[in-house]
Amino acid sequence: MIVEPKVRGFICATAHPVGCRENVKRQIEYIKHLGTLDGPKHVLVIGASTGYGLASRIAAAYGSGASTIGVMFEKESNGRRTATPGYYNTKAFEAFAQADGLYAKSINGDAFSHEVKEQVIQMIRDDLGSVDMVIYSLAAPRRTTADGVTYQSVLKTTSSDFTNKSWNLRDNTIGEATISPATEEEITATVKVMGGEDWIDWMNALSQAGVLADGAVTVAYSYIGPELTYPVYLNGTIGMAKKHLQASAAVINETLAPHHVKAYISVNKALVTQASAAIPIVPLYFAILYKVMKEKGLHEGCIEQMGRLFHEKLFAGSPVVDQEGRIRLDDWELREDVQKEVMEIWDKIRTENITELADVEGYWDDFYRMFGFRFPNVDYTQDVEI
Ligand code: NAI
Repeated sequence: MIVEPKVRGFICATAHPVGCRENVKRQIEYIKHLGTLDGPKHVLVIGASTGYGLASRIAAAYGSGASTIGVMFEKESNGRRTATPGYYNTKAFEAFAQADGLYAKSINGDAFSHEVKEQVIQMIRDDLGSVDMVIYSLAAPRRTTADGVTYQSVLKTTSSDFTNKSWNLRDNTIGEATISPATEEEITATVKVMGGEDWIDWMNALSQAGVLADGAVTVAYSYIGPELTYPVYLNGTIGMAKKHLQASAAVINETLAPHHVKAYISVNKALVTQASAAIPIVPLYFAILYKVMKEKGLHEGCIEQMGRLFHEKLFAGSPVVDQEGRIRLDDWELREDVQKEVMEIWDKIRTENITELADVEGYWDDFYRMFGFRFPNVDYTQDVEI
């Protein structure tokens, strides 16, 4: 089949298997060029197929030669429609890893479920004995808990309406978007989905099953961002979930202290991923940020961020953390000079000057590449096996 992108707003309905493989290959090459480090050897990545989770898996495998088990929720092809990019990424990653003599297995299923936790535990028991690192990188729209209740996460404010500039991805114009406040129920549901309850469940399940190594490290990802996005992010429903995630790190540290387990929150940079492209107002901030950070030579993608997490923040002596114990990979994004320029542009930007003031091309390149498109060395006119 000849696979072409089918983009609707912030989603692409197709994925290119050869392009996804290229995406994974480039990330592996980046980590290889950083050299090896003395890091974890048996790593479980929950949310391992795209974005930060995939980059973490690659950083662990190719940085410290780790055996990896990845958990994801992706769709296979049905013969007519392509699979999701995370499916192709995972297949490609496993093939590269196996060719390079690295153990890599994956479980495609609902990470929130008891069944998937049991499957992972069994896989660790059979193949690895235990894991010394657990990366929790889920970005999910919903979660069904053991009692059968399904919670839906929302991207809303928690106080009043929030109106600001917004980039209409369909016609490249700048207009305004208003984000409405969530109900108490919606806030609770978002915390259920994107908070740390399931992270705690995973860590307890692994520990109780005896498959968590003494002194294991676990990391979950968060975001803070600029004041501009506080109403929709930091103080919004997702921010409430991230607060819970942060508190959950403390719970894990306390509960698993007898096993010397350390839980960290890593605050990462804003990047185009399937999860973040869906947040209103935020894509315009991304495109301006990309422009400013590229001009300053500070721009990073998921893999550069995860390279820095492993090589500079977590496994280069004692972990480098801020006063609240968090790892800060958003240090360059939040640099004063970067934010000052972003805000100046934000005030000036309108439809007429968007391509000049923001990195529109860069945004779309990242977007298309997530789905395996726009790689210059991939021949998109060729038939591919989907
Ligand atoms: P993503 O959409 O690229 O990745 C999400 C991953 O979760 C995929 O592997 C997907 O298969 C998996 N997943 C979703 N639902 C699942 C389920 N029920 N069971 C098993 N796997 C499931 O998202 P991204 O952006 O990499 O997000 C990962 C984490 O990083 C999130 O916690 C997000 O808030 C955080 N983060 C993202 C930033 C960004 O700008 N993209 C910035 C800072 C933090």
